[in-house]
Amino acid sequence: MDPVQLEVRRFNPERDKDPHWERFTVESYPGDVVLALLMRVREEQDGSLAFRASCRSGICGSDGMVINGWPRLACKTQVAEVAGDGPIRLEPLYNLACIKDLVVDQTPFWDKFQSILPWLMPDPHEEEPVEERRMTLEPEAFDMLSKASDCIFCQICYAACPIVGLDPAFTGPQALIKAYRFEADPRDAGTAERTPTLDNPEGVWRCRTIFNCTEACPKGIPITRGIQVLKRSMVREGLTH
Ligand code: SF4
Ligand code: FES
Repeated sequence: MDPVQLEVRRFNPERDKDPHWERFTVESYPGDVVLALLMRVREEQDGSLAFRASCRSGICGSDGMVINGWPRLACKTQVAEVAGDGPIRLEPLYNLACIKDLVVDQTPFWDKFQSILPWLMPDPHEEEPVEERRMTLEPEAFDMLSKASDCIFCQICYAACPIVGLDPAFTGPQALIKAYRFEADPRDAGTAERTPTLDNPEGVWRCRTIFNCTEACPKGIPITRGIQVLKRSMVREGLTH
């Protein structure tokens, strides 16, 4: 067991005017993830340290935070991977307002997710029930759709996107890849309703293909590629209608 230093960006709205950095020295064991260190600090040194976490296994998406300048899941980040000469620096996710310490206000993220009508809209004129219809997808399209369905709503892509930082009205990568997930689903007939939420200056066209979202996503979802597929289908629609 070796001691590791954590430097945490702290903010308590009831006490602090501005955020400040606070350093903790904590024991670390082989195989520890960053979340384990945070829990140790909270249990042994400062019970007021605020962060979100639940499943501890990369499923619930609740412990996204910025670790050494890059958004990650604390429960999937090995201490050995991020420990260096200096302390491990932990900050709340970028592009979302800090409520307390490492806890952010998720409201804009969820509002944008809702804005793209994230549900399956079956064709009301189709007589055969959707569960009895036989539908086919090319293997590559199925693979993309299946990957896009893996999202755990961790908000890491949202924090990694510099365009969201520059333009808070941008719909953002997660909402767009979710829109792709429904648009690519052959059971969905909601394109006419959903397109206006995407085909606008703050929708797909604001994406500048920087690929940060794809690089940061802990589920390996090819977000940028999905957004480009949406753009292509909108151009095609525009040319043919
Ligand atoms: S797309 Fe990836 S990074 Fe973005 S919220 Fe979903 S799982 Fe997290
Ligand atoms: S605690 Fe659930 S994803 Fe990390």
